[in-house]
Amino acid sequence: MTSKRHTIRMERPINREVFIQPWAEAGLAAASSPADPTPSLRIEDGVVVEMDGLQQQDFDLIDRFIAQHSLDLDVAEEAMATPSLQIARMLVDINVSRDEVLKLTRGCTAAKLVEIVEQMNVLEMMMGLAKMRARRTPANQAHVTNRKEHPALLAADAAEAALRGFHEVETTVGVSRYAPLNALAILVGSLVGKGGVLTQCSVEEATNLRLGFRGLTSYSETLSVYGTERAFADGDDTPWSKAFLNAAYASRGVKTRFTSGTGSEALMGHAEGKSMLYLEARCLLVTRGCGSQGTQNGSISCIALPESLPGGGRVVLAENLIAMMLGLEVASGNDALASHSEMRKSAKLMLQFIPGTDFVTSGYGSIPRYDNMFGGGNFDTTELDDWYVIQRDMQVDGGIHPIEEEAILHVRERGARAIQAVFDAFDFAEIEDSEIDAAVSAFSSEDMPDRDRIADIKAAQMLLEGPITIIEVINTLARAGYEDVAENLLEMQRQRVIGDYLQTSGIFARDETPASDTSPRLPQQPRPHLHVLSGLTDENDYRGPGTGYRVEGRRWQQLQNIPQAWDPREFLEELDREARAPWLEEVGPAEVGTRPEVVIAVGPAFGDGLHRALSGLELRDILDALIEGVAAEGLDARLVRIHHTSDCAFIGHSGALLSGSGVAIGIQSKGTTVIHQRDLEPLENLELFSMSPNLDLPAYRQIGVNAARYAQHKPTTPVPVRIDNTARLRLIVQTTLLHRRETESVTDKPPTELTLRRNL
Ligand code: 5AD
Ligand code: CA
Repeated sequence: MTSKRHTIRMERPINREVFIQPWAEAGLAAASSPADPTPSLRIEDGVVVEMDGLQQQDFDLIDRFIAQHSLDLDVAEEAMATPSLQIARMLVDINVSRDEVLKLTRGCTAAKLVEIVEQMNVLEMMMGLAKMRARRTPANQAHVTNRKEHPALLAADAAEAALRGFHEVETTVGVSRYAPLNALAILVGSLVGKGGVLTQCSVEEATNLRLGFRGLTSYSETLSVYGTERAFADGDDTPWSKAFLNAAYASRGVKTRFTSGTGSEALMGHAEGKSMLYLEARCLLVTRGCGSQGTQNGSISCIALPESLPGGGRVVLAENLIAMMLGLEVASGNDALASHSEMRKSAKLMLQFIPGTDFVTSGYGSIPRYDNMFGGGNFDTTELDDWYVIQRDMQVDGGIHPIEEEAILHVRERGARAIQAVFDAFDFAEIEDSEIDAAVSAFSSEDMPDRDRIADIKAAQMLLEGPITIIEVINTLARAGYEDVAENLLEMQRQRVIGDYLQTSGIFARDETPASDTSPRLPQQPRPHLHVLSGLTDENDYRGPGTGYRVEGRRWQQLQNIPQAWDPREFLEELDREARAPWLEEVGPAEVGTRPEVVIAVGPAFGDGLHRALSGLELRDILDALIEGVAAEGLDARLVRIHHTSDCAFIGHSGALLSGSGVAIGIQSKGTTVIHQRDLEPLENLELFSMSPNLDLPAYRQIGVNAARYAQHKPTTPVPVRIDNTARLRLIVQTTLLHRRETESVTDKPPTELTLRRNL
C-alpha cells in the first residue's frame, strides 16, 4: 500500500532529480574520500620535497606545478603548522582581517585547504565568503545567446542586460564559425547607453584568443583546469600550457579567469578515487599558479553531479570559499540548471547570494531558457522579477537592478539599430527594419525571422581574418549616429591598453545616473571615462556589522524601487475619487429594541467614506443581501452605525446589545462579518466570517438568514464560503488600508440609527 500523499510527493519536481549514495572509488564523493591525502609539506633549500604525503619523486604534473608555482613558500611552513581549526575560525572571526587570513591560506596545500573548510558549516562558510571575496562591491554576469544566432536579437539582449546592471555579458555559439559575429553583436549592444560592460564569446581556445586579439571581446573565461593529470591531459593541456595561454590574454589586455569545479574529473572518468572537493582544491591551486586573477567555479556545468550526493551543496560553497582563500576573483556558478525544484534552486543560490561574491552567478540567463546555448541555464529572463524582489526583501545586492519596460524597449531598439548600421556599412547581409522590430519585442528567437546563414558566416570570417578591424567598427558607429556607442567602444580599447581592469576582480563602475535620480527610468548622458572597481581599488574590507559593502543610500533606493510597487496613499486617494450619492442616512441615537428583530451594525466608515468591500462588492449590495436574508425568515432588520470602535467583534456585540432579539450582524467596511449575541462575551460569537474576500452576495444573504434563525432559536445551516487560501496574501495591504480608514473614522459618539435611501 502507498499513501496518496506519498504518491503526490514522488511526483514533485524534487523527485525528478537523481540522488545516489557515495562511491568514493569512482570519485562519487563530495568530500572525504579514503584516498584523499592528509596535509603535509616539507621544504628543503627552498624546494618542496614532500607535499600532502607524496615525496617529490612521486609528484604528478599537477603536484609539480603546485609545488613550483602555487604555494607561497615564505608563509607555507607557518601556514601548515597552524591548526586547520584555527584557520577555519579566523575565516569566521570578524576581528581577523582578510589579509591576515590570506597570508596563511596562500601557503596551504590542497589537502590543507580542504581540511580547513571541512571544519566549517555552511553558515560559517558564508561568513567566510562575506569577508574573503576580493571586491567589496558584488556584481553579476549575464548569458546572452539565441538559437538562431540572430545579431539584432543578440545586440538588443546585450543592451538590455547592460541596462539591468550586469557587469559582464557573455555569449557563445551553436555554429562555431558565427563566433566573431556573435561577439560583435553583444559588444556593440552592451555598450549602448552605458560604457564599461565586459563581454566575451565562449568558444574553443584558439578562436577565443583570436577574438580577444581582434578587440571583439574584453574578457575570457574558457580556460578549464582539472584536478588530475589524466583529466588535464585529455584536453591536450598541462598547467604550463594554461599559464602560457593566460599570459597571452593578459598581453592584449583581456581579463581572464579560469574555470573549474567539483565533479568534472569523476565525469571524465579520471577522479583517481579522490573526492570532488579535494580535486577542486588542486584546480584552484593550479589556477593561482598560472597567474590567473580569478576563477569561475562552483561545479559550473557539472552541478548536478555533486548535488546527487550528500553534502553536495555544501562542497560547492566550500570550493567558492577556497578560491577566495587563494585571493582569486570568484564567479560563483549558479549558471547551469541546478534543480527541477524552485525551492532547491533558491536555497542553493542563497549560499552565494546572501554573503555576495564577485559575480553572484557566473551567468544569469537574461534571455529565455529556450535560447540559452550554455545548456539551458539556471535562471532566465522570466525570473528576473523574482531576483529583484529577493534583493528587495533581504536588502541584498545581487548585482542587478529593476528597470522600467519603457527604458528596456528603448535600449533594445538602439542596440539592434546600432548593429544594423554596422552590417549596413560593411555590406553584410542586411538586417531589415522588420528584424529590428521583431528583436525589440521578441520573447525568444522563435519570434525572429531566419537569416541567410551562409552570408552571416562569411561576414563573421571578415571580422576574424580581416580586413575589418575594431577601429572600422568604431568609425562606422560614429558616422551612423551612434557616437556614444562608438565612444564607449573606443574607451574599452583604451582600457585594454591601460590594463587596470586586469587586476583581481576588475569591473567598471557604471554609476552614470545622477544621484538625484534613482528611478528605474532612462539613463542620462553616459560618462565616457570609466573607473575600475577591483580587489585593489575597491578592496573588500568586511569586518562584521557596520563594515564592508552595505546596501544603502542611492543603491538601496534603486534596488527597492521595483516598478510594480505602488503608493499606498494613492490607493486611498483613489477611493476618495470614487464618489457616490449618500445612500445611508443618520436618523438619531439608536435605542435598545423591544421587538424580535436582527440589528445590522455597521462600522464607522461604512457607506460614509468607504463604499466597497475588499472583495470589490458594493457595500450597498452587501447590505441589501443581508436585509433580504433576514426578511426571508420573517424578521425585520434594523440598521445601526457603531462609532466608537472599528473592531468587528465589538461592532457585532454592540449591535447585539441594541437588538430586541439579542442577535445582531456586525460588519466592517472591508466586508468582514460576524453574527453576535447579547449574552456572549465580545470576543465570542455565533459565527465569524473573517475572510471577507471569500464572501459573495449569496453568502451574505445566508448570513442574514442564519442571524434571523438564531434570533428565533431555529437551527441554522452553514454559510457556503468559497475557500481561497491566497486571499490574505493578495489583499493584506488593501485590508490594512481600508481598516486604517475605518479606524480613522472612530469617534466616541454612541450608536446611531440608520435608514437606507431606497429611492437610489
Ligand atoms: N571544470 C572545468 N571546466 C568546466 N566547465 C564547466 N564546468 C567545468 C568544470 N566543473 C567549462 C567547460 C564548459 C564551459 C562552460 O566551462 O569547458 O564548456
Ligand atoms: Ca560564465
